[in-house]
Amino acid sequence: MFGSANRDEAIFGDADQFDVHRDTNAAVSFGAGPHFCAGAAASRSLIADIALPKLFESFPGIAIDGPVKFVGWAFRGPVSLPVSLGH
Ligand code: HEM
Repeated sequence: MFGSANRDEAIFGDADQFDVHRDTNAAVSFGAGPHFCAGAAASRSLIADIALPKLFESFPGIAIDGPVKFVGWAFRGPVSLPVSLGH
């Protein structure tokens, strides 16, 4: 459901297209309102400032290489992500 809201065609044009410059202020990946995720700032920082930079430093040629399997309904997400490590 959160994934569907993040593809609301009234708000996000061409939602299935990955666009790193997209304005994501209206996205509800961490919920909204009084129950907004208490761990949002920590999660964003751990992923964007630490995990992904370390991954791309270690494997500069990493790329998705195969079908990505998604599972779930409310909290839908990938459960496997085949990659090639490049050279
Ligand atoms: C990428 C990681 C995370 C995602 C995508 C995420 C997503 C969400 C979402 C969508 C909600 C709202 C649920 C609802 O409206 O029913 C939520 C609530 C919550 N999250 Fe997260 N979360 C993440 C990480 C974390 C972490 C690391 C913590 C704690 C350290 C945390 C603590 C909480 C708490 C306590 C709530 C409930 C807040 C409330 O009901 O007032 N989350 N999260």
